[in-house]
Parts: sequence; C-alpha cells; structure tokens
Amino acid sequence: MSKKASEFQEKVMPLMYSGKGIFKPLNTGKIDENVSCVREYIANIFFYTENGTTIMIDAGYNYPRLKEKMGWLGLDPAEIKHILITHQDTDHVGAVERDGDGLFKNAKLYIGEIENKYLTGEKRRKVIYGLYKLPYVTIDNEKRLVHDGEVFYIEDIKIECFLVPGHTWGHIDYLIDDRYLFTGDTIWFGADGGYSFINMLAEDNDLAKKSLAELENKLRERKLSPVIITGHTGWSDDLEFCFAHKDKYCNSWKKQKPVDPNAPYNGYDEKDDVEENVGKGYLPRAYDCRSQK
Ligand SMILES: [Fe+2]
Repeated sequence: MSKKASEFQEKVMPLMYSGKGIFKPLNTGKIDENVSCVREYIANIFFYTENGTTIMIDAGYNYPRLKEKMGWLGLDPAEIKHILITHQDTDHVGAVERDGDGLFKNAKLYIGEIENKYLTGEKRRKVIYGLYKLPYVTIDNEKRLVHDGEVFYIEDIKIECFLVPGHTWGHIDYLIDDRYLFTGDTIWFGADGGYSFINMLAEDNDLAKKSLAELENKLRERKLSPVIITGHTGWSDDLEFCFAHKDKYCNSWKKQKPVDPNAPYNGYDEKDDVEENVGKGYLPRAYDCRSQK
C-alpha cells in the first residue's frame, strides 16, 4: 500500500497545503557533526552517527530516491542495522513497508508497544477527527517493542523513550545520548515557536497538547536541553521557542500567521534539494520571528 499512499500524497497534498506555510522540511544535509537528514518531499529521515555506528530515525515515504540521497551523505542503506520508528504513518515507515524497495530488510525496528497495535490490526489509524480511516500498514522487519521511560543502548549510544500520544495513540519520541530529541509528529514549528502538531492529522488533539506539556515538564525537571528535531519543520535548540505554544495546535485549514519566509510554497516540489548544497555548511535552525525584531 505504501507506494500508492506515497504517490497519492505527492499528488493530493500540494492541492491542500501549498502556500499555507505548514510543511517546512530540511533539505538533505547535516544538522551538525552527529546528525544528518534526507529530505523526501515534505518529510525528513534522520541519521545519528557516533563512534562509527549509525542509527536511522524514521523511514520516510516509499520514496524512489532514498538510496541516492543517502549516498550524498556518505551513507549506505545496507549498513543501517537499527531504525527507531516514532509512529507508523506512511511518511515515517514507507521504506520498511512490505511493498518498499527492501533497502532495510535486515534492519531491526524499534517501535512503541501501543503503536504496534496498528500493525497487528488491533487499532485502526484515523485522521480528520476520526472521519477518515487510513490503510493498514504491513511491515515484515524484526521488531523490538519499546515502552515509555525505557532506556536502552545500541552499541554505546543511549536511547530513552518518551510516550507522547495524541498524533497517534502510541507515538514515541527518542532522546539520544541526552543531546538530541527526535520528535516525529509531536511538535510543529511555526514562525513564532512550537505548537502541537497539525490538527487534522491527530487521533486526539487535546491528548496531543497534554503530551506536549508533559514532555516539556520532563525535560525541564531534569534540566535537559536537547536539540529538538521534528519530522516536518526542522530543528531548534531553543527550548522556549520549541514549546512556546504548547497549548495550541497547528490549524492546517488556514494559512499560517505569522508566515515563515523560509517555508516552501509547495513542499512536494523538491528541486532545491540538490547534492551541491550538501557540504556547504550545516542546516540552519528553524526560523524564529522573535529573533528578527
Ligand atoms: Fe508525518
């Protein structure tokens, strides 16, 4: 299903979202010395590398150019042994769905125990206030189910799991080496700071906002200030910015205000994502209108 779903989104989503400033993917490149990313239309896949081990975070669409773009970063899909999955939507697991290209068929997937209920058929993914059911997702990879608060290691890389239900029922954010928090579709960065992710795609928007507030509390209680990395709107290391509007969500029915001048008109048009730009410097943090005043 994922090939069809990816092609469907490529055609239909620009009609719904162009010019609204909602999707702001990073182009393919590096955030810093540890984290790199590939752009697939409006979505990003991330790679964390430390001491020669690379972990992939999410698996994007069923996208024909992933191997090519990983090559721009010096990464080989065959060497990826571990993939952390934030949630099972097709723009986050496309490359490991049964009808994907099989680039990662030997990789082990880490997915939340509750999120896995979508894969077993115990739950059905619904969007647009429960009105629209998405197709079931089928994945054959070896899986390890993870839990809220669990800490585990891959080689000497520390990974901590935070359950953040709302967008999906079992969405997990991953804190790596206490320095990077991969948040999938938990946070949406507007030009004036972070909001709960897009309203029409959530299972439960009130729960999503509650999860976001709890996430911020956990970080602040432990005096953690990781780089916060989102699935569709880039990254920031400014905690105030990241949680500025945690009690509101991104309303995707409207054009966003204030407008982010860096937002692409149509995020599915990726002609500015080119190999020449990789290596020209690190990818900038998310635009913050407050710092422009
Ligand atoms: Fe997503």
